Amino acid sequence: MPEIASPRGTRDILPADQAAYRWVLDTHSRVAELHAYRPVETPIIEATELFARAVGSDTDIVEKQMFTFDDRGGRSLTLRPEGTAGVTRAALAARLDQELRPLRLHYAGPMFRAERPQAGRQHQFTQLGIECIGERSASVDAEVVEIAWRFFAALGLHGVQLQVNSLGSPEDRARYREALVAYYEPLRDRLCDDCQRRLDTNPLRLLDCKRDAQFAESAPKIAASLSRESTEFFGRVLEILDTAAIPVTLNPRLVRGLDYYTDTVFEIWHETLSGAQNALGGGGRYDGLAALLGFAATPGCGYALGVERTIMVAKELGVAPGAAAGVDVLVASVDPPQAAAAARQARTLRDAGIRTMLDAGERRLDRKLRSADKAGARLAVVVGEDEVRDGNVTVRDLSQHSQQRVPEAELAALTLRILGMQQ
Ligand code: HAM
Repeated sequence: MPEIASPRGTRDILPADQAAYRWVLDTHSRVAELHAYRPVETPIIEATELFARAVGSDTDIVEKQMFTFDDRGGRSLTLRPEGTAGVTRAALAARLDQELRPLRLHYAGPMFRAERPQAGRQHQFTQLGIECIGERSASVDAEVVEIAWRFFAALGLHGVQLQVNSLGSPEDRARYREALVAYYEPLRDRLCDDCQRRLDTNPLRLLDCKRDAQFAESAPKIAASLSRESTEFFGRVLEILDTAAIPVTLNPRLVRGLDYYTDTVFEIWHETLSGAQNALGGGGRYDGLAALLGFAATPGCGYALGVERTIMVAKELGVAPGAAAGVDVLVASVDPPQAAAAARQARTLRDAGIRTMLDAGERRLDRKLRSADKAGARLAVVVGEDEVRDGNVTVRDLSQHSQQRVPEAELAALTLRILGMQQ
């Protein structure tokens, strides 16, 4: 029978990759929690309607990239392509915004998009993010951007570039939409098939088409369609970022691939990521989202970052941690009759908080020691016939090839001392 392969666009996160994942996820939790964000988890499956309304039915994500299926009762469900819609639904359904406003939440987990797989683009990928729900203020937008900035700094990922723009209010966007249609309509026949369709459904998306980039160059800029209020709001965001010494690049063509944004939008790019996949993350303000989901109008702002892309860049820059050893000590029996005694020593070490691997199998001792060394163990505790008879164990330092015999009762204390761990 043929071996079963993993589904297209998915990757296993094998033990050797775990240290880098944990480093990214733990660093993000730490930075988010330093800014008083609390963790939240939402389901991986949601009603399809949630994304159709939130992300927008004319977006690439909803039109082409969702994994959607009917449950046994005939209800349409979707594997979440992003986290903002679910987190907003969860927070407002639980009325958390009535206890505390704004609500500051952070999250991480798998997301699913059926895009053509390539480096940095998978069907299942991991996002981490934050959402600040319940306040419309320039200082919240700046805080959200600053957290992303501080997260990459905490990882030591230099060279990240912050691209920002403002999409203004829904009315500003409607005005801009008209300006874009007026500009692109005479060019319709020269546009790619996708863009001809976008011209009718979602003209803002014309701006980030790679094939028709030459037309985007001279397209009207959104700044000209913004109201005074929107322009001032964006100005305040930029001012605060400036005082935080966070360098930004104004990018009038940055429109993002999700429809829920209003006002501030941003992306974080890195030059080592190429082409369409150059974004480590992105986010912005979404003041209209709650109402689209049927809740009372509630402003919000947040971002999400791609964990796999972050690790790719960190490896490229040489700042990602390598595989970590999963074990400190091997306890090995010499012959099968010592199996129970070896298991007892292993238990004693684990009770003292020492990561211990037990090898009481029938292999020869030198084989056992070799594989313990390969697994990264510092010490081996050898339990043979003599040791069992005398109530001793032999503690061998695998890196220095020295060994000593100690009474069983002293094993845990000695091991903790050699490993440099607290008693
Ligand atoms: P997004 O820009 O669609 O935003 O995704 C954020 C990040 O997720 C991307 O910049 C990228 O690093 C990663 N990502 C997206 N698709 C893939 C893929 N197929 N394979 C690997 N990585 C991918 C959002 O999802 C919004 N929810 C962000 C947000 C939060 N806005 C406000 N709050």
